[in-house]
Amino acid sequence: MKVLVVGGGGREHAIIKKIKENKEVSEIYALPGNGGIAADATCVDVGAKDIDGIVKFAVENKIDYAIVAPDDPLVLGAVDALEEKGIPCFGPRANAAIIEGSKVFSKDLMKKYGIPTATYEVFTDMEAALKYLDTAPIPTVIKADGLALGKGVVIAETREAAKDAVKSMMQDKVFGKSGDQIVIEEFLTGPEVSVLSFTDGKVVVPMISSMDHKRAGDNDTGLNTGGMGTVAPNPYYTDDVAEVCMNTIFKPTIDAMNAEGRTFKGCLYFGLMLTPNGPKVIEYNCRFGDPETQVVLPLLESDLLTVMRAVTDGKLAETEVKFSDKNACCVVMASKGYPTSYEKGFELAIPAEISNNVYVAGALVKDGNLLTNGGRVLGATAVEDTLENAVKSAYRLVEKIHFDNAFYRHDIGARALKAKER
Ligand code: AMP
Ligand code: GLY
Repeated sequence: MKVLVVGGGGREHAIIKKIKENKEVSEIYALPGNGGIAADATCVDVGAKDIDGIVKFAVENKIDYAIVAPDDPLVLGAVDALEEKGIPCFGPRANAAIIEGSKVFSKDLMKKYGIPTATYEVFTDMEAALKYLDTAPIPTVIKADGLALGKGVVIAETREAAKDAVKSMMQDKVFGKSGDQIVIEEFLTGPEVSVLSFTDGKVVVPMISSMDHKRAGDNDTGLNTGGMGTVAPNPYYTDDVAEVCMNTIFKPTIDAMNAEGRTFKGCLYFGLMLTPNGPKVIEYNCRFGDPETQVVLPLLESDLLTVMRAVTDGKLAETEVKFSDKNACCVVMASKGYPTSYEKGFELAIPAEISNNVYVAGALVKDGNLLTNGGRVLGATAVEDTLENAVKSAYRLVEKIHFDNAFYRHDIGARALKAKER
């Protein structure tokens, strides 16, 4: 069986390593992949947003199954285009991927179907937004409507900061058309939990919960990033919380998408905040999280490709999705300066004996050498019986990996360990 994976980050590397475990798989192609992924798949120089290129490659190479991992191609309709050529896919069609592609859509969906989320207002007119901010409760949260590489959210502590954020989105268009509409919403507090789920539009099967660490610096300081590390499971996500989430958020979301004629099939990611008034949705993503995937999939005991195909075929209810009761920790190693400016092209040495634990996000091969080629370079994941040991082991892995200008957070898992002590 020939499998194609669209994307080229650490998340895709984790998916590919897991897919490889299936004996039926004869060939895996990554479009575009990266220099580290090249050890596990055939990388093809077709960009993840090049929908025509992806379809052309898939048809010419008689691909049996395609997994579209990143948000952009999903929102652009990669799954629709591949399905039109008869290629079965994992991932939502464009009309369902809009749950991530438009914040206005997802907020309106939650309001219409009574799914708990921050209260909000939508603005298409800058003057109206600025006027609203004269009296809005502070802190407040400003979100660009469309995709913005995870950077379209500003938590404003003052009215001035809030107005600046609105102007940069709506006037200066720092996120392009993504800022034509904005959402201004209530600031929520509480621990955050990421829950990825499999859904075939009929049932929703949550994966093991996880905790991301979004800020660049230790103790949650510095700028927001794509994610500097993760642990799974998330100790705040107790069985009781899980039950509330299933009944008030997960199932209602699947039902709401069906009622709208936008059946969601694939991985639906629930970004949740456990507020004093119960769990609320911070955001939906139409895909696996990065670096959540790098701790969630190593704990999956069932065969990933089997589960994915069950999602595609609408047979998820009959398929076992089993997770181990161990703990995982992933520490991301980045290039100094990320998420703003950083140098790349440094030699990257990953010892062979730990390569199974390393998911490469940004690297390329030049003259036979692996070189850094991105802000986030890789994630090192350890799985152990306890969270404490998983964290220790992940940092031991990190110490064995070398490249110039490397930086990483030293406190991945610290908050989760503290929560466990309570
Ligand atoms: P996002 O880019 O949508 O993942 O949002 C980035 C981060 O902003 C989230 O992980 C939260 O920590 C924070 N955030 C988003 N919306 C809110 C909100 N309504 N209240 C408090 N924090 C928020
Ligand atoms: N780690 C957050 C995300 O994938 O959006």
